[in-house]
Amino acid sequence: MTGAGSGGGAVAIEPGAALRGRLRVPGDKSISHRALLLAARAEGRSQITGLSTGLDVAATAAAMGAYGASVERLSPTSITVTGGSDRLGEPVSVIDVGNSGTALRLLVGWSAGLPGLSVLAGDDSVGARPMDRVVEPLRAMGATIDGRDGGRYAPLVIRGGALHGIDYRPPVASAQVKGAILLAGLSAEGATTVREPISTRTHTEDMLALAGADVTVGDGAVTVRRSRLRPLDVAVPGDPSQAAFWVVAASIVAGSDLVIEHVYVGPGRAGFLAVLERMGADISVETANDTDRTADLRIRGAALQGTEVRGAEVAGLIDEIPVLAVAAALAEGITVFADADELRVKETDRIATMTSELAAVGADVSDRPDGLIVIGTGGKTLPGGAVDSHGDHRVAMALAVAALATSTGVTIEGWDAVATSYPGFEEDLHRCMS
Ligand code: S3P
Repeated sequence: MTGAGSGGGAVAIEPGAALRGRLRVPGDKSISHRALLLAARAEGRSQITGLSTGLDVAATAAAMGAYGASVERLSPTSITVTGGSDRLGEPVSVIDVGNSGTALRLLVGWSAGLPGLSVLAGDDSVGARPMDRVVEPLRAMGATIDGRDGGRYAPLVIRGGALHGIDYRPPVASAQVKGAILLAGLSAEGATTVREPISTRTHTEDMLALAGADVTVGDGAVTVRRSRLRPLDVAVPGDPSQAAFWVVAASIVAGSDLVIEHVYVGPGRAGFLAVLERMGADISVETANDTDRTADLRIRGAALQGTEVRGAEVAGLIDEIPVLAVAAALAEGITVFADADELRVKETDRIATMTSELAAVGADVSDRPDGLIVIGTGGKTLPGGAVDSHGDHRVAMALAVAALATSTGVTIEGWDAVATSYPGFEEDLHRCMS
């Protein structure tokens, strides 16, 4: 395996040798965003360690500084944030979230109840992602928001002001929507309740409770009331969505025996492990810590079988479908991913990008309106070839994992995208294959 990363962002990943040793993935991206957003609102100095090293989270950290919080980086993964109502004010320039849809959607809710004007913008991918799912409920809370196409797309302009609580049932299962509404609820008059038809990751409500907010959870609903927050001391655990790349890589390369340490396995995040176990993956929990909901996961190479992934299960593994599709491409038999139309509005249309790029390495994959159908090789290597990430970090890393199980390797154009969530991915790949 060599990584001949070019300045233009191409990388060549050769067929893989067994993956061995122990690995720590970057801190969880979803938790990192929320820790920063709440730390800036808390009255005093918060400490966050284990922060995600990706550009997405760096954009949120920079945004908190632009709103007036004092953000001090002690190391690439350790940061202090001194925030509070006396410090926060109107940012002097446009807040640029880069590629991060999570940063943008959460910031719309976060800023809606703060005095002042915010202009939120991102790259072309963010500009194509639907924002009405957060704008509509926030307007129902009294928020003043405008944007492209009447507020359906970024750039968005928010004129912060008085808000009132709502009782809202989101039409899509989305932790970003839940998070945006709850963050707005922090400054709203009365109770703000989100009732989820399908439950999603619980990071916003968990972090609100940690910061001492008036938040209650029960019967599929989360309710928050106006609160003053206390400073946080957060150790961010490893990102399960990043661990998923290694779990699949070690599963499909024979002879692998890899431990991924300190991975968050809490609600709404561990669904991919259940799918891989159903496919026959050899995954064991070396140690588990119930307090911070983490585990050290040991993965050994195994023969995989096809499966069906659909229904309520999908929301809890939506980000892992690109790499699960790679597992499916090497499994025996057919795998169907259904009810996953949300994939069409991620960093790219991941149904389209994974269909075209997996086909380019020789996999038998076809799209359906709400997902993918993959016919696996039954453990035989894929031919390999040249692919494009289309600027999508998870597509790039999923294809790098696929490359390990090819006969000739894979050249991936647009590798730079990986930096949005996992800048050290290629280095980690070298480390666990040496
Ligand atoms: C996230 C929620 C999910 C996920 C995204 C991160 C979050 O998006 O795909 O990567 O941190 O809340 P949706 O809320 O759009 O499902």
